[in-house]
Amino acid sequence: MKTIHINTIRPYDVHIGAGLMDQLADLLPPKVTKAGLRGAKAVLITDENVDSLYGERVSEKLETLGFQVMKAVVPAGETAKSGEAYLKLLSFMADRHVSRSDMIFALGGGVVGDLAGFLAATFLRGIDFVQLPTTLLAAVDSSVGGKTAINLPEGKNLVGAFYQPVGVIMDVRLLDTLSREIFIDGCAEVIKYGMIWDRALFDKLERHVLPDKRQDEELMTEIIARCVEIKEEVVSQDEREKGLRALLNFGHTIGHAVEKNSGFSISHGKAVAIGMIMATKAAEQAGICEKGVGQTLERILTAYGLPVTTDFPGRALGEAMLADKKIDGAKIHLILPKKIGECYIHDMKTAEMETFLLGAEGTDGDYAK
Ligand code: GLY
Repeated sequence: MKTIHINTIRPYDVHIGAGLMDQLADLLPPKVTKAGLRGAKAVLITDENVDSLYGERVSEKLETLGFQVMKAVVPAGETAKSGEAYLKLLSFMADRHVSRSDMIFALGGGVVGDLAGFLAATFLRGIDFVQLPTTLLAAVDSSVGGKTAINLPEGKNLVGAFYQPVGVIMDVRLLDTLSREIFIDGCAEVIKYGMIWDRALFDKLERHVLPDKRQDEELMTEIIARCVEIKEEVVSQDEREKGLRALLNFGHTIGHAVEKNSGFSISHGKAVAIGMIMATKAAEQAGICEKGVGQTLERILTAYGLPVTTDFPGRALGEAMLADKKIDGAKIHLILPKKIGECYIHDMKTAEMETFLLGAEGTDGDYAK
C-alpha cells in the first residue's frame, strides 16, 4: 500500500493498494471512524453500475463501523451531474435530516465523486466527505485535489467548488470489474501526467501498456501513486488554480469541446486524448514543442486504444472552446508541451486560438491529423 499526504488547506491522506476496501476501519481518518462510533448518518452516493457490484459490501462495512447508511443511487453517466439530479439529492438529505456531523461517501468514478463532492461542499454550507474511487480516472485525478462540480446545459463543470475530501481510499482491486473502455479512459489522464511532469513515468507507460497489465496490482498501485504524487505537488502549490494547477488541464480545453459536441457520447478520457494530440501538434507546428513529440504521443495513445483524431468541424469545436471556463476575458490559458515531461501555460488571445489549434480558420474536417 502507498499513502500520499495531500498538503492542502484541509490536508488528508490518499491510500492506494489492493484489498483496501476490507481495511476501511484502519484507513479512514479518525474523525470518520469516531462519527461511526456515535452512530452518525453516512450518505452513500453511488451509481447503478457500481451499486450492483460494491454497494452492499461498502454499506455493510460502514454499518459495521456504526454508521446509519442512507444510500442514494444515481444513473450511471454524465447525466447524473445535472442540476436536477443535484437538487434531488439535496432534498434526499434534507428529508432524512442529515446534519453537519454526518458525512457523505462517494463510491464511484468521476461523475459520482464530482457530484457527491459538490453536495458535500454546499449542503448546510459544507459537510465532510470521503472519496472511494472505483475507476482509474477517479483514482488518478478527480478524487484528489478538491475540484467538485455539476454541469450546465451550457458546458461541463460550470458550477462547482474547491472542497477537499477528508480522506481517499483507492482499492486497486476494484479496477478488475471495469470494462476495457472505462479503464482506457483513465489511462488518458495517466499519460497526461507523464506529458506534463514526468518523462520517466511516460517511458514506463510506454514499456508497460496498462490495458494489458491491469491485473498487476503492484504496477497499478505504483502508477496510480505516482500520478497522485504529481497531483499533490501541483495542487499543494496552487489549490485554487491561480496558475500552476492549470497544467493539469492539458488536453482538456479541446477535450471538453469534443465531449460537448458529441453530446457526451465521447468519454472524457478519449476526448482528452484528442485534445492532447491536437495541442501537441499545434505546439510542434508553431516551433514551441520539440519535433517528434506529437508522433510519440500518438504512438502511445494508439497503443492504449485511445483516439487521436476527431471528425467534428473546427467551427463547432472552436465555439464550444469559447464557452470553456478557462477563458479569461479576451485570453485563454492553453497548456502546451515543450517536450515530454514539460508543459507550460501559454496565454493566447481567444481570437487566435481557433487558428492556432484547428488550422486555417473556417476550414472544416479532421483537425487532429
Ligand atoms: N482535473 C484537474 C484538476 O484537478 O485540477
